[in-house]
Order: sequence, then C-alpha cells, then structure tokens
Amino acid sequence: MKVLVTGGAGFIASHLVDALVARGDDVVAIDSLATGDRGNVNPRARFTQLDIRDGAAAELIRAERPDAISHHAAQMSVSRSVREPLFDADVNIIGSLKLIQPAAEVGSRFVFASTGGALYGDAPMPTPETAPTWPVSPYGISKLAFEHYLFGFRAQLGLSYAALRYANVYGPRQNPHGEAGVVAIFARRLLAGEECVINGGGTDTRDYVYVADVVDANLRAIDSAECGHFNVGTGRQTTTNTIFELLAQALAPGAVAQHGPPRPGDLKASALDSSQMRRTFGWEPRMTLEEGLEETAEWFRLTAGPPAP
Ligand SMILES: NC(=O)c1ccc[n+]([C@@H]2O[C@H](COP(=O)([O-])OP(=O)(O)OC[C@H]3O[C@@H](n4cnc5c(N)ncnc54)[C@H](O)[C@@H]3O)[C@@H](O)[C@H]2O)c1
Repeated sequence: MKVLVTGGAGFIASHLVDALVARGDDVVAIDSLATGDRGNVNPRARFTQLDIRDGAAAELIRAERPDAISHHAAQMSVSRSVREPLFDADVNIIGSLKLIQPAAEVGSRFVFASTGGALYGDAPMPTPETAPTWPVSPYGISKLAFEHYLFGFRAQLGLSYAALRYANVYGPRQNPHGEAGVVAIFARRLLAGEECVINGGGTDTRDYVYVADVVDANLRAIDSAECGHFNVGTGRQTTTNTIFELLAQALAPGAVAQHGPPRPGDLKASALDSSQMRRTFGWEPRMTLEEGLEETAEWFRLTAGPPAP
C-alpha cells in the first residue's frame, strides 16, 4: 500500500517509516525539518522537505492519492504553546486541517498522532478515553480540537480516521534538546557527565511507552477501518526518580540527580488505560520498561560523541 507520513524525519514517525518500508509499502515522507533530522529518514522512502501549512502538501496528497496518511508533524512543545498559542494553533489545527480536506477528497485513511498525557486532568488511573477532557495547555487544546475536526469530517465526508492518544513515548532517536522526553534528556546528560535536574521530588508518575510499540499501534490503525480515538500506553505509572535510577545504572553508575522546584501545572500522575486499543486492534505493548530503557540507553551510548573535555 502507499502511505504518506508527515513528520517523517522526527522521532516517532521515522521509526514508523522504517517499519512501513520493511513490510514493502510505498512510503512518501514529508517534514519541514523544524525539529526533525533528515538523517532519520529511511533512504527507501521518498522524502520531500515541506511544511504541512504549505499548499504544496495538500497538492502532494492529491497527486499521490495515498491509501493512508499518518499525521505526526506537529508543534509539540507544551511551553511554546503557552507562550505562542497562535503559532501552536497555526501548525496543529490549521496545518492539520489543510491535510484532511484533500485526504477526504482522495479517500485516504487518516491516522493522527494525538496525546493522552496532555488531554486528561486529575482522573482515575489508568485513565480511559471516557474520562473528561479539559486540557489546560494550548497544545492539548489544539490536539483535542483536531480530533473533533476528524469526527466531523467522518460525519460529513465519510473520512476514515483513528486518533491515537499517546502516553510518554521514549526510545532511540528522541530529541534530547527539547523540554519533553525526560528519558532522552537524562540519557544525554548522563553520558556527557552533566547534572540531571528533576523538577520537584521526582515522585510524579508518567506512563512510558516504547516507540516500537507505538509503531505497532500505528500499523494496526493504518490497516484497519475502525474509527475513533484510542489511548496508547502501558497503564503502568513510573516515577521520574525511577527513570533516572534505571538510566543512571545503565549509563553512569553512581550518578546522583539534583532536585529543582516543581514545575507549576505539572500533573502529579498520569497513566492511560489502553483496553480500547486491545479490543479494537488487538494491540498490546510488548516492551517492558527495563528492556526499553536498556535499548534506549544503548542507542544513546552508541550515538553520543566523545565526552566534552
Ligand atoms: N513523544 C511523545 O511522547 C508524544 C506524546 C504524545 C503525542 N506525540 C505526538 O507525536 C508526534 C510526533 O512526535 P515526536 O515525539 O516524534 O516529535 P518530533 O519533534 O521528533 O517529530 C515531529 C516532526 O514534525 C516536524 N514538523 C514540525 N512542524 C512541522 C510543519 N509545520 N510541517 C511539517 N513538519 C513539521 C518536525 O520537524 C519533526 O520532525 C507529534 O504530533 C506529537 O505531538 C508525541
């Protein structure tokens, strides 16, 4: 089949491109390279540097007529979304809307990388999709708003779609220079012999899901005709202190984290109930946190340059 992947030079979508290529699909990848890296893109995919807001992206969909579109391109910094809500909405709502109009025209299946972590507030753990969604960050709001557009486009134009609400995704190729992705940030700093700072006491929990499991969720959603929004997580809560300790064991035994003030607005706990994913697509996360962190640490070890003098 032919699949067009947006954000294909980024962390998660570049792994998806690899998996699609490996199973013999014809893959078209686009990315503005705002945060992505051209070097992540599988050479057997056809790559175009393109901003989703550019009319040429819609033209590409009309010309290629892909069977499916996997939409991962996004402004994904929560703090930038707070500082620049217009920019966030321009990329995550307007940019995304520019893709679903042509997708509906040519009949592409549309799979959207949404968020679970930024949608639910204080909720039962693990949180099901039925929990109230009142996101407080413009990033969470723009992701949820676009889910509503998908629902509307299905009702009005018959668009086939799945919105996958990811927990905290981690693994090789995650960018350690952003604000998110504590696994990548700690791994890089531990290897460079730099201090790791944990915001607050480190007892806040998150649901860490390995990138290969997220790719598997995407493949299943691409191949299916089931529509709706689905949590993609492990349901397991892990503290930031545990993440630090496991990575320190692997990369810099004996390293000690510093603790800074808690970040205002950070959730105390987060974990997603993905039983809807299991029932609908037969998906279950396979990688344990310990194995996933080991693989991630190994990748950072192999790709890190020599330590700073
Ligand atoms: N990493 C996580 O834990 C997580 C959690 C929930 C949701 N998500 C979502 O998954 C998707 C991928 O995230 P990621 O972690 O791989 O981040 P990433 O930054 O590595 O990937 C995003 C990609 O989109 C590209 N991009 C940004 N703006 C663009 C634009 N206007 N036009 C074209 N390309 C553009 C970037 O260059 C980058 O390659 C995003 O939509 C993100 O919101 C990620």
